[in-house]
Amino acid sequence: MANEALLRLDGVSKRFAGGVLGLDDISLDIAEGEFLSLLGPSGCGKTTTLRVIAGFEAPTAGRLLIDGRDITTLGPAARPVNTVFQDYALFPHMNVAENVGFGLSLRPLDAAERRRRVADALARVGLAEKADQRVQALSGGQKQRVALARAIVCQPRLLLLDEPLSALDANLREQMQLELKRLQRDLGTTFVMVTHDQTEALSISDRIVVMNRGRIEQAASPATLYDRPATRFVASFIGAMNLLPGRMGPGEAAGATVEAGGMSLRVPLPAAPPVPPGDILVGIRPEDVQLGSEAGAAGAVPGIVEGTSFHGRSLRVHLRLAGGADLIADVSRSALPSAVVQGERLFVSIRAGAACALLPADR
Ligand SMILES: Nc1ncnc2c1ncn2[C@@H]1O[C@H](COP(=O)(O)OP(=O)(O)OP(=O)(O)O)[C@@H](O)[C@H]1O
Ligand SMILES: [Mg+2]
Repeated sequence: MANEALLRLDGVSKRFAGGVLGLDDISLDIAEGEFLSLLGPSGCGKTTTLRVIAGFEAPTAGRLLIDGRDITTLGPAARPVNTVFQDYALFPHMNVAENVGFGLSLRPLDAAERRRRVADALARVGLAEKADQRVQALSGGQKQRVALARAIVCQPRLLLLDEPLSALDANLREQMQLELKRLQRDLGTTFVMVTHDQTEALSISDRIVVMNRGRIEQAASPATLYDRPATRFVASFIGAMNLLPGRMGPGEAAGATVEAGGMSLRVPLPAAPPVPPGDILVGIRPEDVQLGSEAGAAGAVPGIVEGTSFHGRSLRVHLRLAGGADLIADVSRSALPSAVVQGERLFVSIRAGAACALLPADR
């Protein structure tokens, strides 16, 4: 079959001894060459998903298929999958090259081929010069690179990475994100990375799977998750989002006009999945909220400033609308007519063309 998934998770559940349901009916297709991130709060099942894919954990229901072939009962070594563990799991008594070569120790390769592959993997992660160094003498970022080299030296079809950058400080982390993305493109290998850092997931991934309580909330591109979250959980987990209770009239399913927070809003995009008319939630990004000192803008409603916080280029303004709803606005400091002070009355409107999200009130 054309376009067959590299890996398919088909109704996978994992119930641990003791009764905890770690994964609850996960179905997901992962395409060849994709950079996929698993994103979600602590305990949502990210690591369990990786362990089930790697074969360290057997699902209690469902199947895993690679190229359409059922691998559910195959052991880890028989799967074309390698894992980079969060704590790197390097061998302290081996040097860099030995650590990397360890991944190949079970492969029937001659010594020259083994050396060539180790050198290639080290070069790809920028550690060609460090082959003979002891791993204890390396920095955190260098250890991370050794762990990556040890995984890619096996030329897996699928590379699993569990919070690979979480031990690194912010600057190094951003640099390593770029390197990881570049490495993935160069190799063309499918990467599945666990992170609980939404910024990291948004900047690095082709597609993000947002998980919550062992289930998939939404699997989509970063832009789709940001502009068209499918659930309330995704809307509030990815970036800052105002969620205003509102109403949508019948016959308004696509390109709807909705009432929320006393405002009549034109929602440009049809929601996916579609939201039935009636009580709804409208998601509005803080950067799409405009503030004015007069009721100039069409449809502007009054609001009282409850407080402000400094966010560099922008100021975050917390408002209470006349109807009682709370709203946050991120406004460019250079665009502000004057200092915004607590207790001030301002007029609130939504930027024309803003991608407001429509969500069912109960999801
Ligand atoms: N071996 C185990 N035995 C029993 N329960 C487990 C086991 N491993 C994980 N769990 C439970 O399964 C759920 C999912 O755990 P998992 O480690 O996959 O979460 P996670 O998303 O990786 O979280 P974190 O971000 O904290 O690493 C949690 O409730 C956890 O307590
Ligand atoms: Mg985990």
